[in-house]
Amino acid sequence: MQVEYYPAPPPPGPRGTGLPYDAGLELDGIVTTAADLELPNFARTVDALLGGSANFAVDREAVATLSVIDPLLEARTRANRAFARRVVRHAHALGIDQFLDLGCGIPSIQSVHGFVHQVNPEARVAYVDLDPVVVAHARELVSHLPGVSVTWGDLRAPDCVLATPEVAATIDLSRPIALLVCGVLHFVHDDVAALLRRWRDLLAPGSVLAATHGAPAHRKAVAVLDGTYSRGLAGVTTRSRTEIREALAEVGPVVDVVDWPHRGAGGRYALDHLGAVGVVEQRR
Ligand SMILES: C[S@@+](CC[C@H](N)C(=O)[O-])C[C@H]1O[C@@H](n2cnc3c(N)ncnc32)[C@H](O)[C@@H]1O
Repeated sequence: MQVEYYPAPPPPGPRGTGLPYDAGLELDGIVTTAADLELPNFARTVDALLGGSANFAVDREAVATLSVIDPLLEARTRANRAFARRVVRHAHALGIDQFLDLGCGIPSIQSVHGFVHQVNPEARVAYVDLDPVVVAHARELVSHLPGVSVTWGDLRAPDCVLATPEVAATIDLSRPIALLVCGVLHFVHDDVAALLRRWRDLLAPGSVLAATHGAPAHRKAVAVLDGTYSRGLAGVTTRSRTEIREALAEVGPVVDVVDWPHRGAGGRYALDHLGAVGVVEQRR
């Protein structure tokens, strides 16, 4: 399979596992470069929108510009994260104690480990992101936490992600996990329905799978951030509401994120940010 990297991968590391993510194992020690401070970064922009401190002036300026184009951007970002929190708590209530967060962004504020450790400090969390800047930042924040790992990986290559030593050491795939694919599918050009199906098929019965995807109102702001400000973020894919619904239907019933698990659970007003949650069934 041709793996398309986003952004270009770092040079291969010496460990020689043969995995495309070999290089990701060597990311420890990456420092934020001057260039990183001059250009906004998607994940840091999300952090700024959530009120976190893992962002720089350039990210906050981008947020100010984007919020003029899309006044609901902050509400949508917060609703997306609040949805993730409800999913995490739901999974915990089902007895799940291991979480895989794909396209995790920077887990500085309202993070999956923060949500779950409030109710189960022993829960294990594997964070995966394709942006080396995000991975470096995330590792700085959470690598001291037992049972929490951060891996450089591409959600478009499920087998490779699951085969990385960090992910394999953090979660036990023979038991149910909660898999979160939130706020990231608009970076994926591939057939996301097929991708979600592939991920679902890799999970043990009883696992929870949750995904969100910004609907059209979101597109203009994403396109501006993509085209005007960010390095390495080219290729944001915009999909029609119908396409998004079709893809998310692979996961479960599709609703506005504020309406999961029931109408108005996350707020009174729909935000055109769609999500779905499902439980993996016993294989026949
Ligand atoms: C907008 S942030 C979303 C953060 C968080 N999941 C949330 O819901 O708020 C999207 C993240 O996905 C990452 N990303 C984009 N394409 C990816 C891919 N193919 N595999 C893994 N991560 C990816 C980006 O680097 C970025 O950190």
